[in-house]
Amino acid sequence: MNSNELRKHFLDFFESKGHRIVPSSSLLPTDPSVLFTTAGMQQFSPYLAGEKDVVNDFGNRHLASCQKCFRTDDIEEVGDDTHHTFFEMLGNWSIGQDESGYFKEGAIDYALEFLESIGLDKSRMHITVFGGNNVIPKDEEAIDLWKKRGINSIKECGFKDNFWGPVAETGPCGPCSEIHYDRGESFGCGRSDCGPNCDYCKRYVEIWNLVFMQYFKNKAGEYELLSQTNIDTGIGFERLLSILQGKNSAYETDLFSDVISKIGKGDKVACRIIADHIRGIVFLVDAGVIPSNTGQGYILRRLIRRTIRYGKMIELQGDFWVPLIKLTIEKYKDVYKEIERKKIYEIVKKEAEKFSLTLDRGLKIINSIKGDISGKEAFDIYQSYGFPLEMIKEELSKKNIKLNEDEFYDELKKHQELSRAGAEKKFGGGSNPYLHTATHLLHSALRKVLGESVRQMGSDINDERLRFDFSFERKLTPEEIKAVEDLVNLKIKEGLVLKKEVMPLSEALSSGALSFFKERYPEEVSVWTIYDKDSGEIFSKEICGGEHIDNVSKLESFKIIKEESSSRGVRRIKAICQGKYTI
Ligand code: SER
Repeated sequence: MNSNELRKHFLDFFESKGHRIVPSSSLLPTDPSVLFTTAGMQQFSPYLAGEKDVVNDFGNRHLASCQKCFRTDDIEEVGDDTHHTFFEMLGNWSIGQDESGYFKEGAIDYALEFLESIGLDKSRMHITVFGGNNVIPKDEEAIDLWKKRGINSIKECGFKDNFWGPVAETGPCGPCSEIHYDRGESFGCGRSDCGPNCDYCKRYVEIWNLVFMQYFKNKAGEYELLSQTNIDTGIGFERLLSILQGKNSAYETDLFSDVISKIGKGDKVACRIIADHIRGIVFLVDAGVIPSNTGQGYILRRLIRRTIRYGKMIELQGDFWVPLIKLTIEKYKDVYKEIERKKIYEIVKKEAEKFSLTLDRGLKIINSIKGDISGKEAFDIYQSYGFPLEMIKEELSKKNIKLNEDEFYDELKKHQELSRAGAEKKFGGGSNPYLHTATHLLHSALRKVLGESVRQMGSDINDERLRFDFSFERKLTPEEIKAVEDLVNLKIKEGLVLKKEVMPLSEALSSGALSFFKERYPEEVSVWTIYDKDSGEIFSKEICGGEHIDNVSKLESFKIIKEESSSRGVRRIKAICQGKYTI
């Protein structure tokens, strides 16, 4: 089976079992506290939590999908056998219960039937289950069900391995059963205690995670029983495909083999990194991300720069990435029809040109370094050549050169202090809290209408109007302007309220508050959240040092009076509100 056949077989299987096939949601989640979509269940979160009615919205409580996902934790690990940035997740769901719903037993039976339908051998399947802790009991029911199906290799694991979720700070979660597949002795470490989750070898590969969602983690960190039970399952598509094709790694399957052979030469790891990153770039740009220095845009910038750097390292010439992007899009064009080649070329070209100019000079300097490097020298390379710190570290570690990171951060701090005064002037909220609140509403509305790649680039407020600069490549259409205005006005009408919380910067960032000029923030910051008092639903959450009003209804109404270019890739909006404090 090739990748397209496996994807289709999975969806056909669950369709034949009465599931509705749901298209993948965007890589950019609607939940602002999460950077990317990392699991198939994310688009179903409110349904799994019982907040929305799945039958009402999807016409079926049984769903299946192939979801685009992106994980950033292990970018440096990409290139080994198992790590990727972009990947796909196959999953099936049974959300809420009535007599037609299924829970643990149904999920286990479907999983076994599907795996056997693609030729995997039940006797090579090994199961891990949640062994219980002082809050949540051991999953005896799952143990019993697996045993009844003739699988006796069942390992009880702890919270870290076998309790799944939530994706965000709060949300649905539950104990899970993982199916691990034994690839055979030749892959093993030979230890007598070797088994699933072995620390010494990759003989057992986790192929399917069956989550029995029974809990909701609340803001206080407590696990409440959900009012409904759900099934949420996820298969790492790349992993299953490698097993099916008898390969060590997805890089050796048809998902990557043509791109890697097009690269044609050079170090295996470098080729894999390029192939992975090209695919990541294609899907990030397709989702609407543009390169920038923060958040999603920073991840895209990093992938493009790493691609160019590894390309140079293995002596690829010119715009070597063009045919690789083309091949990648070709491969996915029947599954994700929206991918736009021209836009991807333009963005990569612009970023690659900018980066190539400095890369050679920066690399030359790094390569001329002998002995350990001071933090100040590293900072100069970072500052002058736009080399991200992790790239500097990677280059130096190849030559066994140590970097004094503390000194690097001291230099960074000095630099930030110098630029803070200027930054406060440029990005300050002004003396008018009303229009400052309107600015946060506008920012969030722009991201919801135009995509999460929109980023604040500057803001200026006087008593008459707000001015807001943001990253976006083109002029807004009249329909888009109206949609933004309508959304802000809707929120004004709904009377969303504001709250301010003071917290350490790291906590603010991990809570998902938007941050724009990260390096210029103090260690303790104020986070302003605009939310619906009744439902708790958050519309906007930003780190912000200014003052705001307590209820957005005081703005009365909002109007965009001008939309124009501010500089290349940056648009400028001027807007007013009709509240009594402005003209
Ligand atoms: N949510 C679970 C996971 O991501 C199962 O889909 O592994």
